[in-house]
Amino acid sequence: MTAKIKDIDACVFDAYGTLFDVNAAAAHCRDALGDKADELSAIWRLRQLEYTWLRSLMDEYVEFWKVTGDGLDYAMASLGIEDAALRERLMDIYMRLDAYPEVKGVLTTLKAGGLKTAILSNGSPKMLNSAVENAGINDVLDDTFSVESVGIYKPHPSVYQMAVDGLSVEAGRICFMSSNAWDAAAAANFGFRVVWVNRFGQPQERIPGDPEQVIKSLDGLPPLLGL
Ligand code: 2OP
Repeated sequence: MTAKIKDIDACVFDAYGTLFDVNAAAAHCRDALGDKADELSAIWRLRQLEYTWLRSLMDEYVEFWKVTGDGLDYAMASLGIEDAALRERLMDIYMRLDAYPEVKGVLTTLKAGGLKTAILSNGSPKMLNSAVENAGINDVLDDTFSVESVGIYKPHPSVYQMAVDGLSVEAGRICFMSSNAWDAAAAANFGFRVVWVNRFGQPQERIPGDPEQVIKSLDGLPPLLGL
């Protein structure tokens, strides 16, 4: 099969929304959340990301676990949900979010094709190790890079630089996947070859950086690489 994206040595993946289902925590608690489940998940995710951007601009980095809890507290307050046990349940599930169904198979194919594979994420090492363990993908990942090592969140260039330094692969030979359009744009702007995994059918962001390819799920990735 002819590769559309050539000269790649490594595939690097965003974690939340790309490998792991960010909406899974609220979905698993639909019994308690009822018709508020989807709204809670959306507000929670948005505030989680907004707090990473605000804290980066304020030079007030704290680890993603704290930011995730703060985002959940805001979301619950905005929907008038006061329930400490439910909060604990949601956070516990977030520590071991379901991987999307195609993830393990695609990573296995990439490894069989001789590529290096890694995660590059806002997640803290503890969160990422737990999610990787839960998804059973440890043996098909060469490395995991957390923003914890640089003390600032995506889309700061120093985050993407971690994959170049850690894998010893130049940016132009790294294929980066994210479902988060702003992350995909920033990674392309940094110099990665980018495939946007547009799981949620969103329009492209109006910020610098254009993905090279757009797919709906990671199943579309191996054929792009000629695998
Ligand atoms: C991640 O870094 C952006 O939350 C997303 O995994």
